[in-house]
Amino acid sequence: MHADIVVLPGDGIGPEIVAATLPVLEAVASRFGHAFSFAEHDIGGIAIDRHGVPLPDATLEAARAADAVLLGAVGGPKWSDPKAKVRPEQGLLAIRKALGLFANLRPVRPHAAALDASPIKAELLAGVDIVVVRELTGGIYFGDKTRSDTDATDLCRYSVAEVERVVRRAAALARQRRGHLTSVDKANVLETSRLWRDVATRVMREEFPDVTLEHQLVDSMAMHLLSKPRAYDVIVTENMFGDILTDEASMLAGSLGLLASASLGDGKVGIYEPIHGSAPDIAGKGIANPYATILSAAMLLRHSLGLEAEAAAIEAAVSAALDARVFTADLAPSGQSVGTTQAAQAVIDRLG
Ligand code: IPM
Ligand code: MN
Repeated sequence: MHADIVVLPGDGIGPEIVAATLPVLEAVASRFGHAFSFAEHDIGGIAIDRHGVPLPDATLEAARAADAVLLGAVGGPKWSDPKAKVRPEQGLLAIRKALGLFANLRPVRPHAAALDASPIKAELLAGVDIVVVRELTGGIYFGDKTRSDTDATDLCRYSVAEVERVVRRAAALARQRRGHLTSVDKANVLETSRLWRDVATRVMREEFPDVTLEHQLVDSMAMHLLSKPRAYDVIVTENMFGDILTDEASMLAGSLGLLASASLGDGKVGIYEPIHGSAPDIAGKGIANPYATILSAAMLLRHSLGLEAEAAAIEAAVSAALDARVFTADLAPSGQSVGTTQAAQAVIDRLG
């Protein structure tokens, strides 16, 4: 097949990890007889520098017309002045919203070879296989904001329809997996969470009676995620809780540099990006972990292009590279490590 992929390297380590991932996609294309074309566009800080805005029209138009979008990361100290009118992160939020990508899938599957890198006891990690479905286009991220000399506000709003669609997406996923959905909220305090809980309960009763539903408060969820991670299958939650819980969950996998994500809506186009940020402290050194971006590319093949065998081939190759202890510095703080390009090459070498 032929596919048009828009590539948004962004800032910090973004360009390095994306540059390392494209050859993996090329290798898959040649092995399976596909043709992928890559069109690079600006987003985030680099777009502010070049175009004065974090999401140029040309970037959004290209993304709309593409089959899928592969993204690196945005942000950095250069654009972090608290008084700045525009921030790189606004570009990322705007493109998610404009493309209607309300469901952000973040799989968490600790790899045996990376167990040493996790601060959690290995015996708790065996068999952990979680997908967090984070609501991505609503909540406090997108509510009105105000700021005066003496105070500031961020509005958190959710509509019934916004909760329904993301709960349905998560429940459908749970149905294909182990049939268990955990909905996370703060219903003891927040009205939006009480709405969330009501809607989740109704949707599950009416449409997914075969999937078990469990409600958890976000604070205790933060604890259970580390104390009994095997108890969870699919977790669905609102935007900010999902952001926070998935950085936490990355410690189950051993490194933030291993967690991939797919941002999906009702259409075909999705955005695929690692869950980590632009890591300005290590940018330009060639040492960033490319595996999360490579695994995001696998999700791109699966979810936007329908290429399941190709996605599985990438995932197996990353597993094999980890088995061979091809570790970047984040995975091997005191041991031997390789650079970004070598790690990606190790994946290509193991594509079979
Ligand atoms: C993420 C990131 C973004 C978010 C930032 C960069 C805006 O942390 O994708 O998890 O908060 O959604
Ligand atoms: Mn985040």
